[in-house]
Amino acid sequence: MNESLINFYGRDFFVNQHVLTPRPETEQLIDEVLNLAGKPYLPGIKSAPRVLPKNPYILDVGTGSGCIAITLRLMLKNARIQATDISKDALEIAQKNAKKFGVDDPHLFIISNLLENVKFTPENTPDLIVANLPYVDKNWDWVKPETLKSDPDLALYAEDGGLELIKKLIDEAEKYQIKYLILEADPCQHQALETYAESKNYHLKTTNGFILTFYRKYDTI
Ligand SMILES: C[S@@+](CC[C@H](N)C(=O)[O-])C[C@H]1O[C@@H](n2cnc3c(N)ncnc32)[C@H](O)[C@@H]1O
Repeated sequence: MNESLINFYGRDFFVNQHVLTPRPETEQLIDEVLNLAGKPYLPGIKSAPRVLPKNPYILDVGTGSGCIAITLRLMLKNARIQATDISKDALEIAQKNAKKFGVDDPHLFIISNLLENVKFTPENTPDLIVANLPYVDKNWDWVKPETLKSDPDLALYAEDGGLELIKKLIDEAEKYQIKYLILEADPCQHQALETYAESKNYHLKTTNGFILTFYRKYDTI
């Protein structure tokens, strides 16, 4: 098993052939969560007003190496964090990373196809879902194969122009009335995603590089 270390948001995470190598564009997803939590993400930057509860429950879907969930666990002490992935091999690396950073939470990772194995009750519904799910369309001829060669197909590709899994997640979020969604997609997909999300009662709040932040139409921001 060929493991190496990759920096994400200032911390070195283990990666191997079963997980996506964390990308710099995903770091802006963390910035957006901190924004909703009312925390400054750079020294000297004034924080936005907090819109998440004081002790938010945040679910990371498609956690891979665990870089998003573990970074949030370490940065948002009051938050409850959970993370899912469909790949058992990926979750083994995520667990190894959790251990590396002293995150000792037996309930942090759940093996699940999207939200399938997450138990929802009125008291147990995430305030925010974050996800960097696979969004590459196999037909994109402008993606250089060498930039993706160390990443597993399961972490990269999706049908329906790359949007199949993200759209399914939006459907599931609507079903469980999740208030906020922070999603990563290629900028060329943002317009299509905004239209789809709108049809499922999610309004676009902001875009930041590859990252889109949505809120549910019936909730105030
Ligand atoms: C693009 S990678 C992102 C990994 C990590 N979150 C990051 O940002 O570096 C997508 C992850 O989603 C997982 N995945 C693919 N299909 C899934 C599904 N149906 N349900 C849950 N996870 C899935 C893959 O195994 C992979 O770990």
